[in-house]
Amino acid sequence: MYEFKEEYVTGIEQIDREHRRLFEIANELYALKCEEFIPDKYDNIRHILEELRDYTFTHFEHEEAYMKSVGYKKMFTQVTQHNALRETIGSWDLDAIDENQDEAIEEMLRLITDWLVNHILSEDKQIGK
Ligand SMILES: [Fe+2]
Ligand SMILES: [Fe+2]
Repeated sequence: MYEFKEEYVTGIEQIDREHRRLFEIANELYALKCEEFIPDKYDNIRHILEELRDYTFTHFEHEEAYMKSVGYKKMFTQVTQHNALRETIGSWDLDAIDENQDEAIEEMLRLITDWLVNHILSEDKQIGK
């Protein structure tokens, strides 16, 4: 469902590896959400949603450290965009996901993956150039 495509490759090994991992986590979450035969899967789903959030934060830190180390010129735009997503996903109240759980989780997944795709294509790809 959430697929890392060749067009997302930046050419920076660590960044690409982390981007791939983010899509993997998103997929694990989606697969678990679609699983019909596991009763009470919401603890697991929440656990992966937390992992997706935390890994996104870790990735931003690594990416910002890398940009700093190479004196990347458009770092300000990057950090501004990273901060916007940090704020959005940092404000998620996972305890509040009790009604329409499937929709809430799908919405969060969609937000992160749409954001990532746009950000990778418009910003992250320029770091490797
Ligand atoms: Fe970035
Ligand atoms: Fe990135």
